[in-house]
Amino acid sequence: MNTKEVIAQYDKYVMSTYARIPTVIVKGKGLKVWDLDGNVYLDFFPGWAVTGLGHCHPKVVNAVKNYVKKIIHVSNNYYNVLQGKLAQKIIENSFEGKVFFCNSGAEANEGAIKLARAYGNARGSRYEIITMENSFHGRTLTTITATAQPKYQKGFEPLPLGFKYVNFNDLKAIEAAITDKTAAIMLEPIQGEGGINVAAESYIKALRDICDKKDLVLIFDEVQTGMGRTGKMFCFEHYGISPDVMTLAKALGGGLPIGAMVAGKKFADVLKSGMHASTFGGSPIVCSAALAVFEAIRKEGLLSNTVKMGEYLVERLGELKNKKSIIKEIRGKGLMLGVELTIPGKEIVEKCFKEGLLINCTHDKVLRIMPGMIVTKKQIDKAVGILDKIM
Ligand SMILES: Cc1ncc(COP(=O)(O)O)c(C=O)c1O
Repeated sequence: MNTKEVIAQYDKYVMSTYARIPTVIVKGKGLKVWDLDGNVYLDFFPGWAVTGLGHCHPKVVNAVKNYVKKIIHVSNNYYNVLQGKLAQKIIENSFEGKVFFCNSGAEANEGAIKLARAYGNARGSRYEIITMENSFHGRTLTTITATAQPKYQKGFEPLPLGFKYVNFNDLKAIEAAITDKTAAIMLEPIQGEGGINVAAESYIKALRDICDKKDLVLIFDEVQTGMGRTGKMFCFEHYGISPDVMTLAKALGGGLPIGAMVAGKKFADVLKSGMHASTFGGSPIVCSAALAVFEAIRKEGLLSNTVKMGEYLVERLGELKNKKSIIKEIRGKGLMLGVELTIPGKEIVEKCFKEGLLINCTHDKVLRIMPGMIVTKKQIDKAVGILDKIM
């Protein structure tokens, strides 16, 4: 099949829920992907941060290859050797508690919301969750409601009850929104879809205090920021506090679909047998991949590479900003960077694609630049060179 035929087949048989770039990706290695017509692209937006280690990392490939021959699925009616191992690995790298496994970010967030409600309702009808303007928590009915952006909610009403929205980084707004019905505060420490907005340290520390004082659940959605993306294994580590609940997905499985909801000690046993489940959650194959991701990050020193390359990328983008008046601001942490423009970014993304560079634009004017943790200076120079030429 050629590119035209593949696209025609999608048009006929696949629901048109995505505005896709017209290329058929057939191969990936490191930060490079190839399309059906033999074009090569430098991937600086690998699957919305899914392939954080780059495409087809050998440790992930080998782990999956070795395990898939043994057994592919083990029902959660039984135990499998890798699920407990992975949970231990996540806990040892985050905070004391327990993990629930699922398949996606939205599902992990649904689990977190259920946990918060179960905890709050057991203490007297406390079910409200406060979330942030410009957040993004997924596409299920409950997570689009948690996502305080009308464009994701429109047409799907009535939405589930019990969500309140406040401005990000606005402590007074949180204080005003809390009532005796509040169960939890939920946020991304860096808003991804919302335009790479970084939570201030004083804000996060104050949220931690409020949740402690009022016995609320502090939920961090680390679906995009987790697994080394910001230069720490988890973004909460930048703030010197731990959330009560953290959700993960995207980079956790090195490209395979896995989600996880991590609950601190106090909340680890809120969801009891029969209260929550996911058929595929924590299956051995995805767990083998996720364990390989942890091993690769540690053994290959990818956290320090993320910090170093993140700094270098900011420096190079800063030089670009000095030359291009359309760049308003560069922000983010590690390799989760946003370049805010004074103009819409769609055309720049399209032109980058034609020049062999894959990036993304969110929130209309924010270019999202998030190469894998294995990125090199040479690749950064190449990407910045393309941006320079196009801008
Ligand atoms: C912060 C955040 N939470 C949740 C999600 C939803 O994850 P998924 O698409 O795996 O359901 C996303 C996806 O972009 C995300 O960025």
